Amino acid sequence: MQRKPIIAPSILAADFSKLGTEVEAVSNADWIHVDIMDGHFVPNLSFGPDVTKAVHKSTSLPLDVHLMIEAPEKWVQHYIDAGAHCVIFHVEATDDPVALARTLRSAGVRAGFSVKPGTPIEPYLDMLEEFDEVLVMSVEPGFGGQSFMPDQLAKVRTLRTAIDERGLDVIIEIDGGISADTIAQAAEAGCDAFVAGSAVYGKPSPAQAVDELRKLASR
Ligand code: DX5
Ligand code: ZN
Repeated sequence: MQRKPIIAPSILAADFSKLGTEVEAVSNADWIHVDIMDGHFVPNLSFGPDVTKAVHKSTSLPLDVHLMIEAPEKWVQHYIDAGAHCVIFHVEATDDPVALARTLRSAGVRAGFSVKPGTPIEPYLDMLEEFDEVLVMSVEPGFGGQSFMPDQLAKVRTLRTAIDERGLDVIIEIDGGISADTIAQAAEAGCDAFVAGSAVYGKPSPAQAVDELRKLASR
């Protein structure tokens, strides 16, 4: 399925001292990507449900909440309550991803799963019907500003084929190292949605960076 590329700036790269303004600065984006890190699943800490709720109040854009946390099943309700549009959890962090997806969908929230670079996608293709999004990590989760791993695009191609063959409505999103130099190859491999942190907030005009990324992903 060919859709208009979805650009999701990651506020992990924003200036936290003025988060409201930083979110407003990308009002031309499609989603806001909210990276939740617990210092256990990944070595870094970011923010939690209260900050997510504050971001939700400061924008009308859908919040794409990426949980890089252990035991996500214990926490999803907090992010549903905080106003998430989609909650993405890691398959490496939970024993029953399908049960968690059902919990999310029955709460009226979109369900997504993510795979770290070292995790193969094939064992998870059978559960695609239960999900709205798949987030392919193109860096090791935990930090912004890392280099894009092009070998992860093989997973995107596998997903694209599976989704198209089965006629599913599942968005393929990619996260990590997406910039003007890398977004076109991710789009060509079949991604629908693109997370960008430093390539948006590291630029003098984040809004202009969003437009440029969208243009490059559309070609
Ligand atoms: C990494 C996060 C990413 C990160 C992307 O663990 O999941 O969303 O913010 O940052 P960039 O675009 O700078 O690689
Ligand atoms: Zn992320």
